[in-house]
Amino acid sequence: MEVDEGVPLADEQVEVEFGYEIDSATLKQGAEARLFRCTYLGRPAVAKERFEKKYRHPQLDTLLTKERLKAELRALVKCRQLGIDVPTVYFIDSAKNRIIMERIEGDLTVRDYIERVRKDPSNSFAELLRPLANDIGDMLANLHKANMVHGDLTTSNLLLRNADPSKLVVIDFGLSYAQVTAEDKGVDLYVLEKALLSTHPNTEFLFEIILESYRKSAGKKSAENVIRKLDEIRLRGRKREMIG
Ligand SMILES: Nc1ncnc2c1ncn2[C@@H]1O[C@H](COP(=O)(O)OP(=O)(O)OP(=O)(O)O)[C@@H](O)[C@H]1O
Ligand SMILES: [Mg+2]
Repeated sequence: MEVDEGVPLADEQVEVEFGYEIDSATLKQGAEARLFRCTYLGRPAVAKERFEKKYRHPQLDTLLTKERLKAELRALVKCRQLGIDVPTVYFIDSAKNRIIMERIEGDLTVRDYIERVRKDPSNSFAELLRPLANDIGDMLANLHKANMVHGDLTTSNLLLRNADPSKLVVIDFGLSYAQVTAEDKGVDLYVLEKALLSTHPNTEFLFEIILESYRKSAGKKSAENVIRKLDEIRLRGRKREMIG
């Protein structure tokens, strides 16, 4: 399509030109980002758009928004190479701070799945969740082996492809970074432990399974280093809680 310079295109036209089309409905409204259902060259997709934060200084805001988008993009590409299941990136609309990526079908987060299993009295809770916890530990060890951390590991940032608990998909890498230390990895585990226990009461055993599988996949020596850090971070956390 040829466009005269100086004649701005309507937003929808630009999007179609780029190969994606936004459905009107917002899928999710998060703290930092909006998710839209869309299609990319006919494939089911989502657009994750980081929006302006009015309370931040405008220049700082622009910088942070771009940094997070870049961090997310880098991590998604890297994970793909590592064999960690993440949404495929289709397109970056940098003018709008949007990542257009594969839509993970099934609309089920690990958060919702754990709660569903937990509430069903006929279920053997621990046994049903064991394979998933194993996969989470294994995935995290693989990420850490590549010297990356996720940065925001919660059960809402883990999805299940087609609602299948054996198909773990990791999302939301805006706070991830590379070239990390054992301490950074320990913090990554600690964030997950805290998120797990605060969202899902009485799931201490789940984190134990995650750690067990992490130990196996990360290799004894490096897992020991990270878990020693985790213990230190826990202790600091408890001291802070006592001081208040
Ligand atoms: N590729 C995807 N396919 C399907 N659903 C998705 C996809 N990405 C995100 N979602 C849904 O949207 C929700 C929010 O996405 P995400 O966690 O990436 O944004 P956020 O938490 O607002 O982001 P941030 O923490 O970077 O501000 C997810 O919990 C999930 O339910
Ligand atoms: Mg999220």
